[in-house]
Amino acid sequence: MTGRVGDPDNPRMAEVAPGSEEMVLAFLAEAADDFVSGEAISGKLGLSRAAVWKHVNALRGQGYRIEAVPARGYRLVAIPDRLGALEIGPLLNTHDLGQVLHCSAEIPSTNDRARELADAGAAHGEVVVAECQTAGRGRRGRSWSSPAGQNLYLSVILRPSLPPQRAPELTLVASVAACEACRKAGVEAGIKWPNDVLVGGLKVAGILTELSAEPDVVHWVVLGIGVNLNSGSGDFPADLRGVATSLSIERGQPVPRALFAAALLSELEQWLDLHADQGFGPIRAAWRERSVTLGREVRADGEGGEITGVAEDIDETGALLVRARGGLVRVVAGDVRLVGRVDPEGA
Ligand code: BTN
Repeated sequence: MTGRVGDPDNPRMAEVAPGSEEMVLAFLAEAADDFVSGEAISGKLGLSRAAVWKHVNALRGQGYRIEAVPARGYRLVAIPDRLGALEIGPLLNTHDLGQVLHCSAEIPSTNDRARELADAGAAHGEVVVAECQTAGRGRRGRSWSSPAGQNLYLSVILRPSLPPQRAPELTLVASVAACEACRKAGVEAGIKWPNDVLVGGLKVAGILTELSAEPDVVHWVVLGIGVNLNSGSGDFPADLRGVATSLSIERGQPVPRALFAAALLSELEQWLDLHADQGFGPIRAAWRERSVTLGREVRADGEGGEITGVAEDIDETGALLVRARGGLVRVVAGDVRLVGRVDPEGA
């Protein structure tokens, strides 16, 4: 399902009066915990009170819990745990990201789909979301466990005005945004270089950045973000037990997935805007503040092979600077392993 907030091309919206069901939902979502009177909704959206009532009932039929109290109006109590355009769209407060949402029940990989869409001319900010990935991909050729209905798998298409050599900065932008979204969901997350989000040393989110570029121009960047939201400890495949966790395990209560998706996109857009306005400086500072790598002894793939040393800093390109026995080594790609405790990437 492809949906554009307030877009009559959205097939779901065309089934009812074009756009109005989403608009009623958006209105209720915006009011958060407050009641909105039927009169206010009908006045604002130019609908009859009977039409408002009909849309409220249609939404209830799709799993939305909407309270109706005489003289107070309507209040959105719960949204269904689905990652469709109808669930995410009304919760978005972004100007670009997610204004076009491509939502699927099951696809091989949201990154693969986003790449196809980008090659076919998709706009900056289009987002691909799936309930389940059958071939979810991680960094360095690894797979990404993507069971249905538990977590978040999304890919954002960007068309940045950046020279290709600066595109890796966007990965660090995404890691700061993902870390911040996890923190706002109530867990003490930190970033392991370059872009793993960890909680208590266990991996909760990962980012796979892909791009299409010529020597002096970026055509598109796809930021693929996977966040373990509601997987229980028994849901992880054997090789991830003891190295991965989820937000619900860490905070002790389930995470409403559409709400988290909208919050993540909003967070990402704010950090991308800051990056576009002020460059990498503030991102570097934000990354440092959230880092769980700096100051730790790490093992990393340096230019001349594996090195061990203390991670001192990231430089102005995002490379990790490791103080090894032979001097300062710049690590530009690959993994680092935090020495002396369980590490999500394994030894
Ligand atoms: C990593 O830490 O190795 C990166 C994991 C990235 C996973 C996400 S899930 C959404 C998007 N689609 C993919 O196939 N991969 C990324």
